[in-house]
Amino acid sequence: MEHDAEEREVHLRVEDLSVEVEGRKILHGVNLDIRCGETHVLFGPNGSGKTTLLMAIMGFPRYKVTSGRIVLGGEDITHLPPNERARRGIGVMFQRPPTVRGVSLAQMVSLCSRDGVDVESLAADLNLSEFLSRDVNHGFSGGEIKRSELLQLLAQDPRIVLLDEPESGVDMENLQVVGKAIRKLLQKDLRRRRTRCGLIITHTGYILDYVEADMGHVLCEGTIVCSGNPREQLEGIRRYGFEECARCTR
Ligand SMILES: Nc1ncnc2c1ncn2[C@@H]1O[C@H](COP(=O)(O)OP(=O)(O)O)[C@@H](O)[C@H]1O
Ligand SMILES: [Mg+2]
Repeated sequence: MEHDAEEREVHLRVEDLSVEVEGRKILHGVNLDIRCGETHVLFGPNGSGKTTLLMAIMGFPRYKVTSGRIVLGGEDITHLPPNERARRGIGVMFQRPPTVRGVSLAQMVSLCSRDGVDVESLAADLNLSEFLSRDVNHGFSGGEIKRSELLQLLAQDPRIVLLDEPESGVDMENLQVVGKAIRKLLQKDLRRRRTRCGLIITHTGYILDYVEADMGHVLCEGTIVCSGNPREQLEGIRRYGFEECARCTR
C-alpha cells in the first residue's frame, strides 16, 4: 500500500468527539492530541468506550459521530471511509478480529502489505510461518490471533497504529512475542525519535513494560477524566481502582 500523504506530518487530533452506537450515546466530547512520534495509552474500565473511540477513529459506520471531528495531519477525516483512513496511514489491531474463511493469512498480508515488505521474515519473527497457509484467524488461539493481527499491521507499515488491548487473551509466553513486536512497531530511533505514532488501549497496563509511552489517558463512562504520566496513572489505578480516577482532582 502506498502512503499518499507521506510528506504530511502524522499528527492525530480528536476534537470534542461524541459518538453514538445503535442510538446509544457512548462518547461525550473526547479530546486527544497525538503528535508526531508520540505514543499514548488509554486506560479505562470495561464498557467505558475505549473500543468505541478506536473504531470511530478508524471510521466504521456503526460508530456514528454526532459532534466533533477527527483530524489527521491537518486533514479532516471525520467523514472518510475506513479504507481511505488506512490509505492515509492509520493501522489498527482489533480486540476481537473476525475469522475470514476462504482467505489465507498469506493472501491477507499481501493485500495489506506495503511494497518491499519481507512477509516471510516478519512471519518468522512472530512464529507464524506455518500459519500463512491457513485461513485468517480460523481456529487460532488467543495469542495466535494477536500475532496474526500484528503481522498484518507490521506488513501494512502504518504511520499511526491503534492497538486495542493487544495483551488481552495472551498467555505469558505469547505476551513476550506480542510485546516485542509492538516495541519494534513503536521504537524510537537513535535520535530518540519515532517515525510512527501510536494509541494503545490497555486494561492491564502490561504493555507499558515494552513500550515507552509519552502520555496516558483514563476514560470513564465515555469521558476522559485524566490525562498525564501513564506510569503514575497505572500505579494509581492498580492501587485505588478506576472509581477513584473519576473522583481524583489532579
Ligand atoms: N454494537 C453495539 N450496540 C450497542 N451497544 C454497544 C455496541 N458496541 C458497544 N456498545 C456499548 O458501548 C459501551 C462501550 O463499549 P466499548 O467501547 O466496547 O467499551 P470498552 O472497549 O471500553 O470495554 C458498552 O456499554 C457497550 O455495551
Ligand atoms: Mg474494548
